[in-house]
Formats: sequence, structure tokens, C-alpha cells
Amino acid sequence: MKRIGVFTSGGDAPGMNACIRAVVRGAVYHGIEVYGIRRGYSGMIAGDVYKMESHSVSNIVQRGGTILKSARSKEFMTPEGRKKAYDQLNEHGIEGLVAIGGNGTFTGAMIFGNEYGIPTVGAPGTIDNDLYGTDYTIGFDTAVNTALDAIDRIRDTASSHDRIFFIEVMGRDSGYIAVQSGIAGGAELVMVPEVLTPLSEVVETLKQGWSRSKSSSIIVVAEGDEAGSAVEVAEKIKSQVDENADIRVTTLGHTQRGGSPSAYDRILASRLGLGALEGLIGGQKNVMAGIINNDLVYTPFEDTIRLPKPISDDLLRMVKILSV
Ligand code: F6P
Repeated sequence: MKRIGVFTSGGDAPGMNACIRAVVRGAVYHGIEVYGIRRGYSGMIAGDVYKMESHSVSNIVQRGGTILKSARSKEFMTPEGRKKAYDQLNEHGIEGLVAIGGNGTFTGAMIFGNEYGIPTVGAPGTIDNDLYGTDYTIGFDTAVNTALDAIDRIRDTASSHDRIFFIEVMGRDSGYIAVQSGIAGGAELVMVPEVLTPLSEVVETLKQGWSRSKSSSIIVVAEGDEAGSAVEVAEKIKSQVDENADIRVTTLGHTQRGGSPSAYDRILASRLGLGALEGLIGGQKNVMAGIINNDLVYTPFEDTIRLPKPISDDLLRMVKILSV
């Protein structure tokens, strides 16, 4: 393999730049040419590519976002779009790909690989931590710390005003950010899509808190929870608790996607970027590089997409025990 392409796709995540850097510097080390593909599959279809050198990735290890930009391409979901992408790769002599992204990115890579045989190795980049085949995804740790910082701040004001706060965090269909930020932030309750939380349990938790003289409470709601958004949950709860209860809602939203990556994410991204590149060079294809129990492993895209990544029951149990 003489020339490869690297791209970021789907929602951006802190640490993607560190991952790009590892791919580019690793390619230079192994004497392979590397092309950056801008805007994910959209840029691949448009042939928006450029040759990257070691200096192309200088001074980015600490930056959030992605210097290659990211997109969710509808066109790549069509056979015509993928044909255009293949023609562009051919024209530029790109023989293999490192794809940095999440579920959607790997679904596209798997279909593309089956159709055109271009080998792709993925590096998991998403704040959601929802990919089977790795303990953690790039960006998750930073997102949790960003959410935690917000929860700590909200706790200050919640406590001053004796208020109940519902804080909504991201995660799409996964509750990882909610559980980890909730535990670290001492939340009274965490609502996640993986486990049904009846509204009666929310009411009960609040009432029990009051009976133990708790004057303020924080409930972290994962955006994918079956009860709805934090605004909706707060609305439903209002009529069921003390009429004097003072309730506020904060939705953290895209603040969780930005910011300088944590040390953990920079190291994880570096390991996974180099791991994906060296896997590709070594003949791996249609797999995602991941770290499980501190070992580098490769998992077929099909499994990373299809298999669930359940949240440990221990963590969920702990939230309940520690909030008493
Ligand atoms: O997958 C990352 C993520 O931030 C999810 O947590 C969230 O549901 C989604 O992307 C938001 O997507 P967008 O940036 O397109 O609004």
C-alpha cells in the first residue's frame, strides 16, 4: 500500500485531531503517502482531498473539533454517491482508508468496502461511547468532564436556591455520558435509555430526599431517555411533587462536543489512530481499532454496529446507593 486517505465523519469529538495526527505521523514513519479527505464522505464524493505531511498536523493535538471537518453525507447512502467516491479515490491513487467516526461512519465504510473492496480501518470517534469493540471512544472522556463541570456549577446555584435541576446530556441512544457525569457529579438520579425509569421513581427519589432534609437535587437525563427530553420530564414531574418545588432545566447540548481534549482522550486517540493505520498496513480491512482492557483489538465493522454495548449494572446500582 503506497497511498492512503484519512477522514473524519459524523458528529465531531474532542481528540479527533490527535487521531488524525497519529495517522499522518504514523504514515510518514512507515513511508506511506497520506491524503486528508475533507468533510467526510461528502468530500470523498467531491474529491476534496489534499496531501498531508508531518507539518500538516503540527500544533493540533490539543485542539477540539477536526481540522478535516466533518459531515453526515446523504449522497454516500446511495449507490451513485458511493460510485462517485470510488472514482475519486481511484483518480487520486488512494488504496486504503482510515475512517474516524461512529456508527454511521462505519456503516458507510462497511457497505463501501463490500461494494468496491477498498480496505478501511476505523478509529472510534464519538462522544457517545456507544460502539461495541472498545471500552471507550475518542471524545467521551472530554464530554463527560465538560458535562461534569456544568453539573458542579449548577449544583452551586441549585443549593443556594433550594432547587431541583433536570440536566440533559447528549449520547443519542446511549446513557454513558449521563451515567458517568451523574456519578462523578453526585446526581440524585440518572435517567438513561438502557433502563426504564418510571416517573413515579423520579417523584419518589425527590420525596425521599426531602424527607432526609435534602434541599436541592440534580437529576441527569440522557437525551435518548424514553421519558423524553429534560424539559418534558420536568414538565411531567411538576404536577406530581410539592407545588412549591422550584424546578429548573438545563440542556447542555453541543457544549459537550467542543473543547480541548483531555489527556486521556489525546492518548486514546493517538493509540487508536496509529493502531488503525498499522492495522491497515498489516492487511486488516472492514474493522475498527479499539482498546479493550488496555489491549489494541480489531473488531469487524458489522459487530461494532450491530452489537449492543450495555452499561454495567454496577454503575447504575451505584448511582442509587450513593445518592442516599
Ligand atoms: O453522536 C454525537 C452526537 O453529539 C449525539 O450525542 C447527538 O445526539 C448528536 O450527535 C447531535 O447531532 P447534531 O450535531 O447533528 O445535532
